[in-house]
Amino acid sequence: MRRKIVAGNWKMNLRFQEAEELLDELATRLEKEQRSGDVEVIVCPPFPYLEMAYDLGTDEEDPNMVYFAVGAQNVSEHEKGAYTGEVSAAMLSSMNIEYCIVGHSERRKYQGETDLMVARKVESLLQNGIVPIVCCGESLEERESGNHFKVIERQLTEGLFHLEPLDFSRIIIAYEPVWAIGTGKTATPEQAQEVHAFIRNLIQEKYGKETAKQIPLLYGGSCNPATAPELFAMPDIDGGLIGGASLKAGDFISIINSFE
Ligand code: 13P
Repeated sequence: MRRKIVAGNWKMNLRFQEAEELLDELATRLEKEQRSGDVEVIVCPPFPYLEMAYDLGTDEEDPNMVYFAVGAQNVSEHEKGAYTGEVSAAMLSSMNIEYCIVGHSERRKYQGETDLMVARKVESLLQNGIVPIVCCGESLEERESGNHFKVIERQLTEGLFHLEPLDFSRIIIAYEPVWAIGTGKTATPEQAQEVHAFIRNLIQEKYGKETAKQIPLLYGGSCNPATAPELFAMPDIDGGLIGGASLKAGDFISIINSFE
């Protein structure tokens, strides 16, 4: 059985007090629901809120009791030193941060993040014991010109497929079609499934059937409480990377509860 995962990418939203309220509400509601623990919940707030997120997401008396795990939204590709404004994987690891998003299309677009940078960031995270959530996905033009499979294959080959099998087996991949992000235009379950199956097949060709079977593949792009159940019911969709809907506790929890 593959892991089921719902991760919230807050992006650059919420002031400190608002973040505290949301984290607090999530922790309280997830604790109350006493979920069977079969869905891994990850919250990825902006850097300044990571420590607070870790504190509120973990029971004070029992550190094994985790309401949600915490991920960063970015990491430096460098190890340490004179890189003003950057945050290293070692720093994240020293704060008990377990996950980190890499290669999000917004970083590729606005910060010039390339496949090579994704590859370096992934390596740095793995060396520091952090699980990379690696994003891939095509733009509208690339889909309309029928190039989406080619683009995704390039992103994964250059960003990930240099890894040794053991390292690769720790990765989470998120398919996020750029045309679906923040647009309210969710990919249909069939469109998403088609790409997820393609990705799993690429993994199988490179790393074999057993690895392909166990890598979690998340869908992201206008996923909400109405669309999540059908998406998560697809055979190769193991959960979601949620943007806007992760900023409302009720919506985020409905999405977490969308697995059959
Ligand atoms: P939205 O859910 O707001 O479309 O964002 C998706 C996303 O980019 C998550 O990383």
